[in-house]
Amino acid sequence: MHRIGIVVGAVSLALIVTTPLAASAAPDPGLAPPGTLTEKPAIVQHTADRPLIAVSHRGAAGHAPENTLAGLDAARRLGARTVEIDVQRTRDGELVLLHDITLTRTTDVEKVFPDRASHLVADFTLEEVRRLDAGSWFSPEFAGEPVPTLREALIRLERLDLNLFLEVKQPSLYPGIEEEITAELRRRPAWLKPNRPWEPRRLIVQSFDWESMRLSERMLPSVPHGLLGRVPEGRLDEFGWAEMVNPNHTTIDADYVDLLHEHGFETMPYTINTRAGMDAALRNGVDGFITDYPAAGQRAIRDFLGEESGGTAGQAAAPPFSAPLVPLLDRH
Ligand code: G3P
Ligand code: CA
Repeated sequence: MHRIGIVVGAVSLALIVTTPLAASAAPDPGLAPPGTLTEKPAIVQHTADRPLIAVSHRGAAGHAPENTLAGLDAARRLGARTVEIDVQRTRDGELVLLHDITLTRTTDVEKVFPDRASHLVADFTLEEVRRLDAGSWFSPEFAGEPVPTLREALIRLERLDLNLFLEVKQPSLYPGIEEEITAELRRRPAWLKPNRPWEPRRLIVQSFDWESMRLSERMLPSVPHGLLGRVPEGRLDEFGWAEMVNPNHTTIDADYVDLLHEHGFETMPYTINTRAGMDAALRNGVDGFITDYPAAGQRAIRDFLGEESGGTAGQAAAPPFSAPLVPLLDRH
């Protein structure tokens, strides 16, 4: 177990290492090339000095078409510091941002390619995907918004100074996608630097496919990895190499969150789009949560922290959020 217990000081962080970090984070020599960063960022659970995080889901899915560059822009405008995206692969091996395994719901593929038997992402080349409109389904305001590649998204995230939760979506459909994502990230090594949750350029790679994450963690030993879904209590010890467990918010309670923390995991459940849900998750002790509505999420966090401190403590480390009020809508 490479977990770390941490005490956060008033001004700087003092790390108390209870077990060696490198023990289980050692790279597989066959996978991690010489010179690869191997030090993992420390796990720091919520204290009065660290901000809770509202991760902006699929870009900012409540405000802009999901998994688009416009969505990343919206997330930043709304005050998000971290966004979540979904990554899949085209027929010709390009990594693209899409949630569904078909192009049907979020593009005009049925209009542009009416005769194709399949509208699976995996059956289209990038050139074909580029002919699709991934914005109009959401709103005419976003007409013509393209499906971005992972590379384009990383470049935009760097420009916007946003952190990233990268979900590898259905990796069993895309054998070798872990290596391809690794190669793309290695071209942009700032993402491989171990960072703590509130620092810029923090990357989490996560998936519902825990075996895929085991593979990915061996190739990206400096990058924290997350397990999506609820890991059974009796199996938590199996995943000492992972940093996060991010379940559906409806499946957790305070005892489970405590258990995750006792095992050294951070947890930011998905996808919470109501104020009541956000409040409940925060009361249960989560480290943050994933939401389509990042500004509303930040407001819930601010209110929670105000209540927690009796309404007097300013969160020194909390980023400034100046987002406009947005309606809370539960789209799921
Ligand atoms: O980040 C977790 C969350 O995105 C998982 O659900 O279906 O929206 O990818 P989904
Ligand atoms: Ca996702």
